[in-house]
Amino acid sequence: MSNQNLIAPSILSADFARLGEEVNHVLASGADIVHFDVMDNHYVPNLTIGPLVCKALRKHGVTAPIDVHLMVKPVDRIIPDFVDAGATYITFHPEASEHVDRTLQLIRSLGCKAGLVFNPATPLSYMDYVMDKLDMVLLMSVNPGFGGQAFIPSTLKKLREARARIDESGLPIRLEIDGGVKVDNILEIKQAGADTFVAGSAIFGAGQSTDPNRYDSVIATMRDEIAKAG
Ligand code: DX5
Ligand code: ZN
Repeated sequence: MSNQNLIAPSILSADFARLGEEVNHVLASGADIVHFDVMDNHYVPNLTIGPLVCKALRKHGVTAPIDVHLMVKPVDRIIPDFVDAGATYITFHPEASEHVDRTLQLIRSLGCKAGLVFNPATPLSYMDYVMDKLDMVLLMSVNPGFGGQAFIPSTLKKLREARARIDESGLPIRLEIDGGVKVDNILEIKQAGADTFVAGSAIFGAGQSTDPNRYDSVIATMRDEIAKAG
């Protein structure tokens, strides 16, 4: 599993009025996991969706992993609600938790996979003493809060550093990238060490909105680009 490349559409850019259908379509088009952005208008300047919507997707029949990216502060209170709602991964920003180790333990103790999210200016040293409690490291390649922003180039160097730390640990930790991922930069992102690729506007903005196969081509092209890394 940890060697497999995963495409994770961010539903932030989906048509929320038809969310169940949108998620069915991206999964039928070859996406692997559903990236679920939770924003609180406090930790980040935007407001999105919570556990009720996660639960609704499960009730709708979504069985793929749901990758809950918490951009909320504080984090601990809401974690059990996302566990109950069917989250697979729960990731959070270390700046949003008073006790990072405790929050990681909480997520795992409730049966979910746990991850830390690094903003562009957040040092990787936050992972130093908690590697054994991580299933995912998520590097933000934009500042969190909005879809459709441009990829910050210095993230490539940070990805290489994160990849080295993960490889050195020997642990099965996924390395996810989030923000500004497109068909034309996904290869260099792969080459820098990512194995899990969040893409919102690049996927949900593709094709004609009435075509049920509109996501096939962009997801297939992303996979072709990733495969060039060998
Ligand atoms: C931003 C979110 C991202 C966002 C990415 O705070 O965490 O997941 O949806 O959107 P794009 O792919 O459009 O940059
Ligand atoms: Zn995200």
